[in-house]
Amino acid sequence: MSASTFPDDFLWGGAIAANQAEGAWLEGGKGVTTVDMIPHGKDRLAVKLGQEKRFALRDDEFYPSHQAIDFYHRYQEDIALMAEMGFTVFRTSIAWSRIYPNGDEMTPNAEGIAFYHALFSECKKYHIEPLVTLCHFDVPMHLVREYGSWRNRKMVEFFARYARTCFEAFDGLVKYWLTFNEINILLHSPFSGAGLVFEEGENQEQVKYQAAHHELVASALATKIAHEVNPENQVGCMLAGGNFYPWSCKPEDVWAALEKDRENLFFIDVQARGSYPSYTKRVFREKNVSIISEPGDSEILRHTVDFVSFSYYASRCASADMNEGNSSAANIVKSLKNPHIQASEWGWGIDPLGLRITMNMMYDRYQKPLFLVENGLGARDEINAQGEIDDDYRISYLREHIKAMAEAIDDGIPLMGYTSWGCIDLVSASTGEMSKRYGFIYVDRDDQGQGTLARTRKKSFYWYKKVIASNGADLS
Ligand code: BG6
Repeated sequence: MSASTFPDDFLWGGAIAANQAEGAWLEGGKGVTTVDMIPHGKDRLAVKLGQEKRFALRDDEFYPSHQAIDFYHRYQEDIALMAEMGFTVFRTSIAWSRIYPNGDEMTPNAEGIAFYHALFSECKKYHIEPLVTLCHFDVPMHLVREYGSWRNRKMVEFFARYARTCFEAFDGLVKYWLTFNEINILLHSPFSGAGLVFEEGENQEQVKYQAAHHELVASALATKIAHEVNPENQVGCMLAGGNFYPWSCKPEDVWAALEKDRENLFFIDVQARGSYPSYTKRVFREKNVSIISEPGDSEILRHTVDFVSFSYYASRCASADMNEGNSSAANIVKSLKNPHIQASEWGWGIDPLGLRITMNMMYDRYQKPLFLVENGLGARDEINAQGEIDDDYRISYLREHIKAMAEAIDDGIPLMGYTSWGCIDLVSASTGEMSKRYGFIYVDRDDQGQGTLARTRKKSFYWYKKVIASNGADLS
């Protein structure tokens, strides 16, 4: 691959999220959020899915987000390490409850603003562009308890106030914004995705799609406000990506894959094109869903995003009969196991060509610049006798995906940048483990929360540094 494949202004870096890295869950005036209620262990999935209401902490459970990797106190050391790798972009999220601890206040928490001001200034010191997600899997618990979270229309107002506060407070420091992380995960993991818990017997599809409507209106409103505050601001949507392949060329399987793709792409169809796609009429009718909207919503939705960002870990696979006992759930989205590809230890399929396929589909569909804001291999790391971590498996995964990205650029796709997920080890969103590691930087902490939290450069750290220095030309 020639040095010219990646454009000169291509942004290289890594991504984390407040809820999986910061810790300091009650410091600096922060309020409690949904993720603070999600335990490690056997009840985790039921709580994440909104099937088990967990509104109070239990003494016999461990909550990994409470300390996480202590990024809140160690961000200077961590940003220096990212600068050493040559990052030109760093993706993180703002914890909503640091800015508005309850979520429905009229004035923000000054300490929360000061923290992020210091963090983003630290990035700028090293010429690193912050790429900031407003809501990455954390809703203030007060909004869940008092309003039912995104099932309630009032959330649009709360979110818009929060978004405006951020755009104004960090104007001049941040210009790349994402509204909701993996917005489609709301359908698959409703509590962790959107703070939703269900009452017995209710039509869960109705609740989820109504919540989705509120998020979509809130996202469009935030996009409008971002542009008003500063026309230089660039706002993106964010999809948990990965195309569905049909299990076979049987027409029924092909149709199933198309339907499954639409389920996820529905959100981006609205955010990138500015209105509900025509297929939703029938889908909603068949699911018995009827969206309550307010006058003016369709005008608000016309404020489309500037770019389309997405995560890509694995491709997916669907058949007309998904209950054939051959399923996995890469990134919480149910899929059949594809026999043609290898999988990670956690069962996530490894498919670099799938990234090129996904990118081509997305650009064909939206004609907007793309940004790959999450990608990586969750794997166990061993420290050898010399105290080093030789993570060749991670290097190999990233190398193949960067090659696929280069192919997609060569296919004619404008790609703004790449932020590899969990550039520093952090808490896994799906399992709550520390041992599912993605980082170039090792963090000494185990699944029970024990460890010194010391940071160590892995072999991949030096490899990625070389990749960035050569603008993606040297992947050896
Ligand atoms: C995405 C999320 O779903 O995938 C991240 O945006 C998450 O928050 C990442 O951590 C990897 O998933 P996991 O479950 O391995 O942490």
